[in-house]
This record gives sequence, structure tokens and C-alpha cells, in this order.
Amino acid sequence: MDTGTHRMVDVGCGPGWLSRLAASLQYRYLGVDPAARRSKLLSGGRIEPLDADAVQQELQPTDILVLNGVAHHLDDETLQGLLNAARRCTALLICDHRTEQANHALNRLLQRYDRGKYIRPLTFFSHLQGYSTMHLDPFEIKWLGLPVWSYFTGLYRPDRSES
Ligand SMILES: C[S@@+](CC[C@H](N)C(=O)[O-])C[C@H]1O[C@@H](n2cnc3c(N)ncnc32)[C@H](O)[C@@H]1O
Repeated sequence: MDTGTHRMVDVGCGPGWLSRLAASLQYRYLGVDPAARRSKLLSGGRIEPLDADAVQQELQPTDILVLNGVAHHLDDETLQGLLNAARRCTALLICDHRTEQANHALNRLLQRYDRGKYIRPLTFFSHLQGYSTMHLDPFEIKWLGLPVWSYFTGLYRPDRSES
């Protein structure tokens, strides 16, 4: 991917920490989050008070869509709508936690009290319809040696042949 020509669209961006990564890659940055009170300008872009439904109309072919810890806040309809719309983008990056039978009891407890109610198994993300999976990396975040968060990162490229 050429740097300088892309824009990172960070859905559910929170305070917009990833804008620094975008700047280091010379990507423009659009962060959206319904919790943002107002539009905010950043050095390489901006944050807008939009949700995952509203951002769909903003997506462009040069965009790299990022869902960092956000998919588990989105119900199936909203997530699927966003995945469909993101097929017009360059790439999709999803990082999130995952429900597995084998999750440590402490992880299951933390997930039960998580504010996001749509934690999904890794199998949901291993193949997304209309995308090629470029990279899928399940891993554990440990605390005091215990695997307290079962997490993954997935990088996907839209299948142009199916559009
Ligand atoms: C765990 S935080 C992750 C924040 C940020 N991506 C990060 O990694 O620092 C989840 C974020 O998702 C946002 N969120 C919840 N529902 C959303 C929706 N329907 N559309 C977009 N963002 C949403 C929340 O406001 C919150 O900022």
C-alpha cells in the first residue's frame, strides 16, 4: 500500500490514539465515535461524532477501515452493514476480543461485565464474506501470567471479483 494516498477511518475511535499511528504512516485520519461531543481537528485529520451506521456514507476507495476494540459493541446488523460498505475500501483491520470455550474463567468473567454485548468467536472473523483474509492472529493478553483477554487481529482485503 502506498503511504500518503490512504486515509485511516477509525470507527469507535475513543480519544483517537490511532491518529498518531496514521500520522507516522503518512495516512490521513478520520476518527468517528458516537461518544465524541463535537467535531475535533487533529494535526493529520479529525474526529467526528458519528456512529458505525452513519460513517458508511463517508467511506472511500483509498480508506483503510479500522475497528479496534469496537466490533463487540456492534450488533449483527450494524456490523454487517459496515462490513458491506467497507468492501469499497482498500483494507479492513479488526482487533477485538473473542469468546471461546477454552477462555480462562477470569476472561469469561471480564467479558460478562464488558459493556460490549456482542463478543464473537474467532470463527466469525476467520472468513468474512466478500473479503480475503490476509492475516489472522489470535493471542492472549496476560496479567500476572494468566490469559485474561483472548484477543485477535485480522487484516482483510475486499474481493473485487465478488463486487
Ligand atoms: C473499547 S472502546 C475502543 C476505543 C478505541 N478504538 C481504542 O482502541 O482506544 C469502544 C468504543 O466504541 C465506541 N462505540 C460504541 N458503539 C459504537 C457504534 N455504534 N459506532 C461507533 N462506535 C461505537 C464507544 O464509544 C467506544 O469509544
